[in-house]
Amino acid sequence: MKILIVGAGGFIGGHLLEEILKNHRNWHVIAIDINADKISHLLADENINFFKIDILQDSIEKHVRDCDVVLPLAAIASPAVYVTDPLRVFELDFEANLQIIKWAVKYEKRVIFPSTSEVYGMCEDEEFREDESNCVTGPVCKQRWIYSCSKQMLDRVIYAHGLKNNLNYTLFRPFNWIGPKLDDISNSDNGSSRVVTQFLSNIVHEKDIKLVGGGNQIRSFTDVSDAIGALIKIIKNENNCATRQIFNIGNPNNQASIKNLAHEILDLAKKYDRLKSLAEKIKIVEINPHEYYGKGYQDVAYRVPSIERAEALLQWKPKVPLKESLQKIMDSLFKTTSK
Ligand code: NAD
Ligand code: UGA
Repeated sequence: MKILIVGAGGFIGGHLLEEILKNHRNWHVIAIDINADKISHLLADENINFFKIDILQDSIEKHVRDCDVVLPLAAIASPAVYVTDPLRVFELDFEANLQIIKWAVKYEKRVIFPSTSEVYGMCEDEEFREDESNCVTGPVCKQRWIYSCSKQMLDRVIYAHGLKNNLNYTLFRPFNWIGPKLDDISNSDNGSSRVVTQFLSNIVHEKDIKLVGGGNQIRSFTDVSDAIGALIKIIKNENNCATRQIFNIGNPNNQASIKNLAHEILDLAKKYDRLKSLAEKIKIVEINPHEYYGKGYQDVAYRVPSIERAEALLQWKPKVPLKESLQKIMDSLFKTTSK
């Protein structure tokens, strides 16, 4: 199988590449990204061809034509940017990815597309279900929703191509996947990375941890090793188990408030030599959402997936508890640990 991964140098792409090159030696990967820093150690492998391409500038039509399966993972996935530069989010997350989908339809290729937990937005269901839960976004002046809307529109386009043109697709919806190399820890500006990296970089830079809106909002954190397990099953697609399906890929057992997450991370930090004295000085404080992200921000209070479908069709179940996942991330960054 020849797999095209666009955005292969990112968090998910990098972990997926590592797993494929380690355990799926009969697969060949065409990897595309503007940045290969996180995957440079993998590029000498004969099972991968890397192309440094900006998909906003150059066509990748020939690469779509030449593969069997395409995973278009390139996107902006940081909430701060949805507010500060919504048009860039639209151009990359929607327009550039729509073009890839059109090529996949033209050349009859299989598409595995990353939707997002964010499509459910402010849905009030206790567990979000792929075919039942409403997708609830806010008013246009809340620019945060441009990411959710871009992804939702692509979900709908892909679904429609499945019905009309027989497009062979799978949509997967990550729920706050976390792991080593999630984002860049060197920048600690407000909103410079997703929450786990943000809190760690705050500690490293000796800045207080900020709970946006008080920190009672709930997320379900999913260890990237569990998540990649689901992706591999989707790629394998045994007995067409993933064909024209939408899957929530998350860990409902790892639901936590952002406040609890902050305390958990700060407590763990005290066990690492490099962080101990910093963590003892840092406070956890509350901050107004508009002060932190700007006026175009609106938060998701509650986000927990139903994963019944992934359990039933993919025979997949996440295993890694949140604390273990946080420890793995911190070990990868700060090495010396005492449990
Ligand atoms: P990431 O930001 O780590 O990776 C995105 C990659 O795309 C980066 O390596 C970046 O260099 C590349 N890229 C950006 N612009 C590009 C361009 N113009 N041309 C070529 N490459 C470009 O994101 P991620 O966490 O790996 O997410 C991958 C996909 O999964 C995204 O579509 C994201 O929306 C979706 N997703 C992720 C999560 C999560 O928990 N990580 C949750 C929901 C959805
Ligand atoms: C994320 C991003 O939109 C995407 O990466 C992705 O598609 C999706 O959700 C997902 O991973 O499933 P969100 O969970 O809101 O959205 O983003 P984070 O930056 O990880 O923030 C989580 C929560 O922590 C938010 O409520 C945010 O306000 C809060 N937060 C963040 C703080 O309280 N303090 C901070 O310093 C940073």
